[in-house]
Amino acid sequence: MSDIQSVLTEARLFPPSAAFAAAARLNKEKLAALCAEAEKDPVEFWAELARKNIAWQTPFTKALDDSKAPNYRWFVGGKTNASANCLDRHLATKADKIAIRFEGDKGDTKNWTYRQLHADVSKLANGLKSLGVTKGDRVVLYMPHTPEAVIAMQACARIGAIHSIVFGGFSSGSLRDRIEDAGAKVVITADGNTRGGNLIELKKAVNEALSSGCKTIEKVIVLKRTGHDVGFDAPRDVWWHDLVAQQSASCDPEWVEADHPLFLLYTSGSTGKPKGIQHSTGGYMVGAHMTSQWVFDLKESDVFWCTADVGWITGHSYVCYGPLSNGATILMYEGVPTFPDAGRFWKIAQDHGVTIFYTAPTAIRALMKLGEEWPNKYDLSKLRLLGSVGEPINPEAWMWYHRVIGKEKLPIVDTWWQTETGAIMMSPIPGATATKPGSCTQPLPGIFADVVDEAGEPVKGLEAGGYLVITKPWPSMLSTIWGDNERYVKTYYGQFPGKNLYVAGDSTHRDKDGYYWIMGRIDDVLNVSGHRLGTMEIESALVSHTRVAEAAVVGRPHEVKGESVFAFVTCKGARPHGDEAAKLIKELREHVGKEIGALAKPDDIRFADNLPKTRSGKIMRRLLRSIAKGEEITQDISTLENPGIVAQLAGKE
Ligand code: PRX
Repeated sequence: MSDIQSVLTEARLFPPSAAFAAAARLNKEKLAALCAEAEKDPVEFWAELARKNIAWQTPFTKALDDSKAPNYRWFVGGKTNASANCLDRHLATKADKIAIRFEGDKGDTKNWTYRQLHADVSKLANGLKSLGVTKGDRVVLYMPHTPEAVIAMQACARIGAIHSIVFGGFSSGSLRDRIEDAGAKVVITADGNTRGGNLIELKKAVNEALSSGCKTIEKVIVLKRTGHDVGFDAPRDVWWHDLVAQQSASCDPEWVEADHPLFLLYTSGSTGKPKGIQHSTGGYMVGAHMTSQWVFDLKESDVFWCTADVGWITGHSYVCYGPLSNGATILMYEGVPTFPDAGRFWKIAQDHGVTIFYTAPTAIRALMKLGEEWPNKYDLSKLRLLGSVGEPINPEAWMWYHRVIGKEKLPIVDTWWQTETGAIMMSPIPGATATKPGSCTQPLPGIFADVVDEAGEPVKGLEAGGYLVITKPWPSMLSTIWGDNERYVKTYYGQFPGKNLYVAGDSTHRDKDGYYWIMGRIDDVLNVSGHRLGTMEIESALVSHTRVAEAAVVGRPHEVKGESVFAFVTCKGARPHGDEAAKLIKELREHVGKEIGALAKPDDIRFADNLPKTRSGKIMRRLLRSIAKGEEITQDISTLENPGIVAQLAGKE
């Protein structure tokens, strides 16, 4: 990335203000004490936190079973319930506290207290039971980012059903594949919703998915959000409001074993097929709960706004499970940052008294481009903490966030983690850690990271570059990949056999102060606007078009998105030119949108007669990445089977 240089020469240091540190849950001394405890006995460290912070119906008898490593089992013998932890335990002390403040795309607002949330979750949980959903059944959610999505998650958790959310921006084809892989019994969706004023046809996509497969689906629960006409196929389809109308507002939680799956969340890897990342109940809750406290310094009076959609892991851990298990007030906003104008995010922050704001660098960069007059129009004085997640934040965006939004006072937590890790792994602690723009600083207490070389050997010394690995298990780690444990072992622990290292798939640099700087993925995974996309998935989508013979997809640095999708395509028949090429490009972009979702549409498509291959037939992706960036080709291309193709790929012929 072009930012690497600026990142590595970044020397600015921003210590926490004395005022913030004095009032924070964790200051330097407390953090050091926690880290020392974790060093001494990592397993007991987590066990103690789990005992003190999570409500167990049956206490666990063994903190960690590593006899089948890398299939670790945390908190063996313990029984708990995620929904009871998020709701029931707050009823005695804060039933009337607002749990969720909501603002819709069109500006409609609604609040839920903990009491109301508990009642609505219980009603839907009872509704699910009445449809025959029981412990271990999979329920797919294809929902707008509204409180009902959280209610549906909690209702599943309450009865021990496993939810799997598919982001509403994915196409019907992606939805179908995920439903089928999960073997889901029920889908919960909405008729539709609007984002940025545009209608999103959720139910229509569900209808399409179900008409092309998904034989395990018995029922579809439909939330009425827009009220527009959608194909409704009773008795398979039931309206949410009809289902809950007669249900009791009380539903005993199903106490599940600590390693009972709480949810599956599909994410992209280096192969064409997305993998169902499986998270446990007990370990995941410990991670989401503790990191919410440590990283966001959550206090009783906070209004916490994590802008991520519930369809991503950030929405799971920091919209739903982490803040709610801490009894916090969260804000949910259904729409986009720039509708109806570029001040929307800041207006929401002002109107709802947001104190903690957690978003992605892509949003920061987009808003930065629109000018600081927008945030400056609004009163952001309630804000006390800012966060970033999902991709490396370039120092320029960090500094803008610090200066314009943080008024040079607020701490910024740049949090590194993954769908697989369940919770934040590396981040500054706002009352304790001095930050550097572009660095996620250091691992949290109880998390052990390192940098290893090609052979999996730790790089000696603090200053190091290489593969980022996690050397010890942690509670919120994925349990496995749904239905494919072999792939789990191979993907995450197979790279350095015998070393038992979790390989994150990121490359990193560690500086002389032991601070980590994430450089990006080392596998064939792209990060487009903070969304994780597999190059192979996009290639398969392209190849499924009748005109395409072969496709190779790489990432190209993008000012706002971080990375954009660049596709090199060879066609069946003659290479298209002029208008024909323009028409086909449009068609292919639509095709990828239909196959995967709009988020995967290539920004650039270039046609060529051939792709650059080595004599053994391997596509030279490194070369394609250079070409996509428009770099001068300095690599040795003499080993190519067809060196002559390079000029054409570079768009010069
Ligand atoms: O490459 C890293 C990047 O996002 C990847 C994980 O993507 P996903 O599973 O979709 O989860 C995103 C939200 C947690 C990582 O492998 N990434 C995430 N956070 C950061 C980051 N890269 C740099 N800095 C971060 N703070």
